[in-house]
Amino acid sequence: MDRGPTPDHVRSNRAVWDGWAPEYVEPGRKAWASDEPVWGIYGAPEADVGLFEPFEGGDIVELGCGTAYVSAWLTRRGGRTVGIDNSASQLATAAVFQQEFDLHFPLVHGDAEQLPFTDESFDFAISEYGAAIWCDPYRWLPEAARVLRPGGRLVYLRNSVLLMLCVASDDETPTSDQLLRPQFGMHRFEWPDDPGIEFHLSHGEHIQLLRACGFEVENLIEIRPPTDATETRYPYIDLAWAQQWPAEEAWIVRKAR
Ligand SMILES: C[S@@+](CC[C@H](N)C(=O)[O-])C[C@H]1O[C@@H](n2cnc3c(N)ncnc32)[C@H](O)[C@@H]1O
Repeated sequence: MDRGPTPDHVRSNRAVWDGWAPEYVEPGRKAWASDEPVWGIYGAPEADVGLFEPFEGGDIVELGCGTAYVSAWLTRRGGRTVGIDNSASQLATAAVFQQEFDLHFPLVHGDAEQLPFTDESFDFAISEYGAAIWCDPYRWLPEAARVLRPGGRLVYLRNSVLLMLCVASDDETPTSDQLLRPQFGMHRFEWPDDPGIEFHLSHGEHIQLLRACGFEVENLIEIRPPTDATETRYPYIDLAWAQQWPAEEAWIVRKAR
């Protein structure tokens, strides 16, 4: 479907992610090498979070796949997986890993807000910090609904709403226990020292949008760091904060039959 000119955030995030891609090579390799999925910045085990369960196989798309380790996990489980990403550099890393681990599935260079797939062509769609935060929800969620078959499931993991209200505007200051910005009107986020453009909605608006797209909300999982979690590469999200409040959340929604 032609949805008009490519928005500025898609063009800008493409350049940003092409630049960040080298930093994601080693974490990507580690994730490809493992058969035990872990989620989010603290590596919460799949056994605790259950984003793949029940695994129903079929045609799968990962929206904003990056180095495509989630697609690799799904392919190893028997899914017919396609990964799409806006960054050619991230996909180049994914292609290297396909050779290295001898595991192959289609990788598509494109925008999750304008998917190059026909209506109702997937059974399962997933995004871990891909489309889930880098795409405008008013553009990518309708697209996800369009390409899913009736009864198909969409799962996505992202920063929590509370984190977005409390996180500092710079990369070094730890997360505050104060509300630093309003919840009403939250949508597009830009940061003074960071070129990436992200999107975060309040839960109420998010649910209204999901329902307008024809999704039923099955679960909203507030993710807790595992007991052996350590500080991450993101100093602005500190562990002590994340042990008290959810820093991440996973939405599990299903397209109505
Ligand atoms: C953090 S990575 C997600 C992959 C992996 N799960 C991870 O956490 O490293 C974010 C990815 O989203 C991709 N992305 C950003 N905007 C996108 C868009 N409009 N369409 C598809 N992918 C996009 C970026 O290129 C990047 O590879």
